[in-house]
Amino acid sequence: MLRNISSPARVTVWLNGTSIEVPEGTMASAVFLVFGVPCRASVTGEQRTALCGMGICFECRATVDGAPHRRTCQLPCREGMRLETQP
Ligand code: FES
Repeated sequence: MLRNISSPARVTVWLNGTSIEVPEGTMASAVFLVFGVPCRASVTGEQRTALCGMGICFECRATVDGAPHRRTCQLPCREGMRLETQP
């Protein structure tokens, strides 16, 4: 199948209940970053989001499709994915 690189396919994901259309293959952590939404809160209540982008720091953990503590920098977006800030 040929794909036009300049206009990749798009998928719809849900960020804290709001639907967002992103290019297919966008990392889930990028969705949080672009929209200024924290991935989680630390034990002291500080807002956290992706830091290393390569699966080492665990700062990008969020709830994905109901599963907590998923490293969003390791998850490409797929149709219908539900991303939620983890309390
Ligand atoms: S941003 Fe560091 S593990 Fe995801």
